[in-house]
Amino acid sequence: MKRSIRFSVPLAAVIVIFAAAPEAQAAGKLTLYCSPQIEWCQLVIKEFQKATGIKVAMTRKSSGETFAQINAERKNPKGDVWWGGTGDPHLQAAEEGLTIEYKSPMLGKLHPWAQNQAKTSGYKTVGIYMGALGFGYNTKLLAKKGLPAPKCWKDLTKPIYKGEVQIASPHSSGTSYTTLATMVQLFGEDEGFKFLQALHKNINQYTKSGSAPIKAAARGETTIGITFLHDVVTQVIKGMPIKAVAPCEGTGFEIGSMSIIKGARNLASAKKWVDWALSPGAQKLMPKAKAYQVPSNASVAPPPEAPKMADIKLINYNFKKYGSSAERKRLLKRWDKEVKALPR
Ligand code: G6P
Repeated sequence: MKRSIRFSVPLAAVIVIFAAAPEAQAAGKLTLYCSPQIEWCQLVIKEFQKATGIKVAMTRKSSGETFAQINAERKNPKGDVWWGGTGDPHLQAAEEGLTIEYKSPMLGKLHPWAQNQAKTSGYKTVGIYMGALGFGYNTKLLAKKGLPAPKCWKDLTKPIYKGEVQIASPHSSGTSYTTLATMVQLFGEDEGFKFLQALHKNINQYTKSGSAPIKAAARGETTIGITFLHDVVTQVIKGMPIKAVAPCEGTGFEIGSMSIIKGARNLASAKKWVDWALSPGAQKLMPKAKAYQVPSNASVAPPPEAPKMADIKLINYNFKKYGSSAERKRLLKRWDKEVKALPR
């Protein structure tokens, strides 16, 4: 009797230690799929690690590419959190059951547009920033080529700009999918596709990442780059000869989003990341990484350099419709058939 009591205590302790070990280890790690610019990904990771001690492993891929990766890994998920990138593929991931519901205690502190994004997805994603679409041009190249300054979307389809415009592919890039959905909403679907066909004739390259075209314009490799206006501002702040244009017809915008991946191996760390990423401290970091989006935490003012949303004619972008799986697939298929397949 005495013997069994003596042995039972250490045995119980061993069981507790073994049971706790995997959890304790898991709480210390996080695998992040990051879709905004790499400099911003690196900065937030550094600061999150400092604040929590959780070690983060990160890969940066564009929004459409990350969606495709999470979809491909659905039976054996490798990522925990998908942070940033345009909201449409986050909504599609929510609809396709690739991400899970999480109501952060920070939700109430966010702008209504960020909370609406959460509501639309059944709380499987949430808005972290907002930014308007537009384009930028290299002022030196434009002058050298004797080209007039484009002011409107329709200007970009004029034959004088043949080979002068760059944009990403709407398959890999959320920026470019936002452009496609914007044209459909701004001009009506058939007119929107006519615009994209005319634009296609002037495109010198479809890049993978959404901000690549304006970086190429800054290097003098293309005259005009279609991208988010805050990405244009980044190049201006870096001292590049770039000018931003908010198109005269009006434009669409993104609600950059964040989601926890279904089957996340480090769920506790993932929730900590979400809460932290919505906090004022995390969102104030943006200008340090030369990121000039509008932060979703209502107590954080946009950096003074950020494009002024009040001065831009924004369309009433229908995120529910254009973020839906069927619509995204349908529009991309139509773009492949009616735009990409055309000669340039
Ligand atoms: C840039 C922008 C972000 C945007 C992202 C989308 O990093 O600054 O606001 O969400 O592009 O990237 P993608 O490569 O998918 O167009």
